[in-house]
Amino acid sequence: MKIILCKSYEEISVRAAEIVADVMKADPACVLGLATGSTPVGLYQKLIEMNQSGEIDFSEVTTVNLDEYYPIAPDNDQSYRYFMNVNLFDHVNIDKSKTYVPDGTAVDPVEACATYEALVAQVGPADIQVLGIGQNGHIGFNEPDAALEVATHVTDLTESTIKANARFFSSEADVPTKALTMGIGTILSAKKIIILANGAAKAEAVKKMLSGKLDTSCPASMLNLHGDVTVICDEAAMGR
Ligand code: GLP
Repeated sequence: MKIILCKSYEEISVRAAEIVADVMKADPACVLGLATGSTPVGLYQKLIEMNQSGEIDFSEVTTVNLDEYYPIAPDNDQSYRYFMNVNLFDHVNIDKSKTYVPDGTAVDPVEACATYEALVAQVGPADIQVLGIGQNGHIGFNEPDAALEVATHVTDLTESTIKANARFFSSEADVPTKALTMGIGTILSAKKIIILANGAAKAEAVKKMLSGKLDTSCPASMLNLHGDVTVICDEAAMGR
């Protein structure tokens, strides 16, 4: 894995935006794999600025998001669809019909996952996948477990993830307990991967990811199987 050590969150956002912008300039009809959470918000802000200044163009871009809570409506302000609209899509010249997020309203979530997996294969593979990392080492919503799923699937969120994500909801009880997420194989199908981490809370997960072992208790360690991964992080996240 290549590591870019940054002095600040601002620098993480700038360096990540430069990499995503390079992919977009090389192929204006590229497929971007996108992530939610607080970490990539600064990256999306930079991409918005680059789009508004005319440096990058989203008109032919397709996006596939990693995951979505289940069940949740797209207009719920905690849904990942809503997050993507507010933090990126509403501010750039993207055709929203080409932005895909797993369907948090599906009657049959298992079928919705199979449909999403097929969709990612059909429009993809992603030219670049953006990732954050959970405090417990999760990527997308692939939680630590004895075995990890390859394809898009329904998952139960761990206690620690529910607690970590409760800050976005009015109470912990409001956090959905399930999610639909790309699997490790879906994520690894991307041609290029960048994973962003800032702050000391991520240090333990980053350490395990970089330990050189494939450890299912740190799903991010599976990224070691990919040939083109760049970790963009600050000194606090690299602290361990
Ligand atoms: C969520 C998302 C992940 C994200 C993680 C970290 O659980 N499903 O994709 O990486 O949170 O979030 P944050 O960036 O807010 O720390």
